[in-house]
Amino acid sequence: MLDLHCHILPEVDDGAASLAEALAMARFCVQDGITHITATPHCHRRCRLLRNDVLPHVARLNEELAKAAVPLVILPGSEIQVTDVAEYRRDFEAGLYCHLGDGRAYTLLEFSWKAEMYPPDAPELAAWLCARGMTPIVAHPERHHYFADDPARLAALVAEGAWLQITVDSLLGNHGRDPATSAERLLMAYPEAVLATDAHNLGRCSGLSVGFTWVTERFGVERAEDLRSRANRVLAALHCP
Ligand SMILES: [Fe+2]
Repeated sequence: MLDLHCHILPEVDDGAASLAEALAMARFCVQDGITHITATPHCHRRCRLLRNDVLPHVARLNEELAKAAVPLVILPGSEIQVTDVAEYRRDFEAGLYCHLGDGRAYTLLEFSWKAEMYPPDAPELAAWLCARGMTPIVAHPERHHYFADDPARLAALVAEGAWLQITVDSLLGNHGRDPATSAERLLMAYPEAVLATDAHNLGRCSGLSVGFTWVTERFGVERAEDLRSRANRVLAALHCP
């Protein structure tokens, strides 16, 4: 079972604050049934973690997990914030970004929390990525009020091939009422969805199984299985050791 959005790398962004915390998060994830995590530290203006920054941190954490006998594989990745599509394309083509699994099949995109920073040409970017064989996965759209205020924005992204990553903590109400409502609506509206934890620390580390249980109770086993199988498709496309 893959968690494709997790800030488990220690001391790199606002995620795990220490190696001890990263190892504790890892042990929790293993107990939850997670076998693989794509570490997705932030890549935005204030915390710009590029491929060359991410890869050594991932190697180091895998070494520490092996030493501690924690059976979890950390794969590279990042959560890339897009505010300027031309800039994103330039850095993409220069190979600066770390996509999921350091591959070319899936990438995790985030949009700004500020509506005025949402790029109007985001659907064109989704189409551009898909034309290059890469599926963009939009991080936690249920937490961005402007997607709820203007559902056409998200519909346009999905129409161009984007998937949506719903955060388990949103389903559980841990990000407030509006994200919980939006998360449920998005799961009803879009088959093109995956669940992830977006875990940042031990206090914000829900696991995935509670999310699948939530979906099973609300929407039935088939929907939960479809969400699982999408995550498995992502995992199968990554370069796993
Ligand atoms: Fe995140």
